Amino acid sequence: MGMEIESLKKAALAELMAAEDLKALEQAKVDYLGSHGKFTALLKSLGTLPKEERPAAGKLINEAKVELEAALVSRREELELKAALPKEATDFTLPGRPRTVGRIHPLTQVTEDIVRVFRKIGFVVADGPEIEDEWHCFDALNTPADHPARDTQDTFYVDLSLTPGERRAGPPVGEANGRLLLRTHTSSVQIRVMEKQRPPIRIIAPGRVYRRDNADATHNPTFQQIEGLYVDKGVTVGDLKGTVEFVFTQLLGDDVKIRFRPHYFSYTEPSFEIDFSSPLVRKMGKEWLELAGCGMVHPQVFENVGYDPEVWTGWAFGFGIERIAMIRYGVNDIRLFYENNRRFLEQF
Ligand code: DAH
Repeated sequence: MGMEIESLKKAALAELMAAEDLKALEQAKVDYLGSHGKFTALLKSLGTLPKEERPAAGKLINEAKVELEAALVSRREELELKAALPKEATDFTLPGRPRTVGRIHPLTQVTEDIVRVFRKIGFVVADGPEIEDEWHCFDALNTPADHPARDTQDTFYVDLSLTPGERRAGPPVGEANGRLLLRTHTSSVQIRVMEKQRPPIRIIAPGRVYRRDNADATHNPTFQQIEGLYVDKGVTVGDLKGTVEFVFTQLLGDDVKIRFRPHYFSYTEPSFEIDFSSPLVRKMGKEWLELAGCGMVHPQVFENVGYDPEVWTGWAFGFGIERIAMIRYGVNDIRLFYENNRRFLEQF
């Protein structure tokens, strides 16, 4: 009996160890230790032994069973680990899948640079809605109802009560602050800030503006502007000029020249246009390039926001960001900024 137990145990151990996977292992377990297994049969045959041999044989069988069960558990662990491992070896020499790193759009880069320069001299960024009303875009800025900029030929009016695609004959219905429109300039942010805040004020407001222009090399129906507003006591044109010169030399280099030319805006008095000259502009065959509008805030604008024009003075300016980007990078068509052509954008 002892020999039989020993050889059956060896055979069982060999089979358990040879099992290639969990399924084969379970099969081996059933074959030996299951209710119809070979070991179980051996245990049952104990009854056929002479009485005095039974205890020793029973002890041997039980020891063998314990050994087999331990072997089963350890082999199962090995096979489970094997099953969890990847089926194929990982080839660490394969090159990774490259991910292209995006870039900041040139218009955003220029905007961020302008903001950085103004921050140095104490300006903070202000924001306003792109869907504006007539009060903030025109009336409060002293722009009369018959001003050509307010014409539907020049400005996109919006009617939020219409469902998409629906059209109404005639202009949209009036609201408390006039009709709604896509802001034609960032000057509306001046009003929004002054309505909320008392002077002193030093803000710049970058943002998108909309006009009914046909797109060509220098026009686009959507473009970006930056507005500036400074309100305090005793502010002069000298402050305006000094600030503009500082900002543009910081942005475009020391060899730029700035010129103020008298102009007209309804919200400033006096008003100027800022011209700009640099070696690059001269290379483009021009001496001066018009860059921005500016002036001293009109007393009526102060009245409109509840500031006393006898106490407060200020200047404001607004310029197109695309213009600056075009000069800075030598881009000759504004539409390139909106086409999302990667070969164009990757250059910045
Ligand atoms: N809003 C003007 C434009 O879009 C630019 C401008 C001119 C802004 C004079 C100002 C200003 O703040 O004072 O052309």
